[in-house]
Amino acid sequence: MAFYLPAGRECELFAAACRARLPVLLKGPTGCGKSRFVEAMAERLGLALVTVACNEDTSASDLLGRYLLDGGGTRWLDGPVTRAVREGALLYLDEVAEAREDVLVVIHALTDHRRRLFIDRRDETLVAPPSFQLVVSFNPGYQRGVREMKPSTRQRFTALAFDFPDPPREVEVVRHESQCTADVAVRLVALAGQIRAAQDLGLRETVSTRLLVYAARLIVEGIPPREACRAALVEPLTDEVDVALALGDLVALRW
Ligand SMILES: Nc1ncnc2c1ncn2[C@@H]1O[C@H](COP(=O)(O)OP(=O)(O)OP(=O)(O)O)[C@@H](O)[C@H]1O
Ligand SMILES: [Mg+2]
Repeated sequence: MAFYLPAGRECELFAAACRARLPVLLKGPTGCGKSRFVEAMAERLGLALVTVACNEDTSASDLLGRYLLDGGGTRWLDGPVTRAVREGALLYLDEVAEAREDVLVVIHALTDHRRRLFIDRRDETLVAPPSFQLVVSFNPGYQRGVREMKPSTRQRFTALAFDFPDPPREVEVVRHESQCTADVAVRLVALAGQIRAAQDLGLRETVSTRLLVYAARLIVEGIPPREACRAALVEPLTDEVDVALALGDLVALRW
């Protein structure tokens, strides 16, 4: 079973949204547990999970499917969204705001109360079975381009806000995921608290639970803590020498 430590009532809300057949939007910073939550909920609800990592090249036909040349003729191959609808799976579109415009058309029809998928190239319409559940994620802080989610799309979803776990929970997550000692986990989480509070570092995205788990795993593998923090926290967060030095100073306060 996937380990997911809840922060509040997100599991109950998600299960209720599934029963009510409402699509769900997960928003929150990178590495705070969104994907792990979806994985755990799919297991808990007994649904197959189909995950699509969207990027700026993701188009509707990537999601729906395409005809492939096969011998003398062509053969249709379902894309992940079509497969998920046919199977009544839990469909997770990760970073959906990155995808191309035509993906929205596909999503809109699925979030509609009719829950339909129109496959234009086949002139086929699928109606999603009751178990089908759509979940998308969106990282609001991530301003790489102009990609934002349109209000008309956002308002088709119920939304759950995610953030890094509070310190006692984050300690538990880091311990569970790395098998490190309580002492290591407590120090890493305290360090993260300081880095997250240090707005003046000007980090585009701050230290995630994921990176704390990485640091703890390196320490468990025998890497000295300062070196582990450099590789798992400092270097992934910045390329700027002065910011790296400032982060290194914060690490040195703990070890
Ligand atoms: N509440 C939690 N319960 C269990 N593990 C967690 C939790 N929060 C974070 N983690 C740990 O953090 C790691 C990163 O979480 P996850 O991959 O779910 O992040 P994410 O929010 O999907 O990030 P991204 O936006 O980058 O995809 C997980 O692999 C897990 O080790
Ligand atoms: Mg994820």
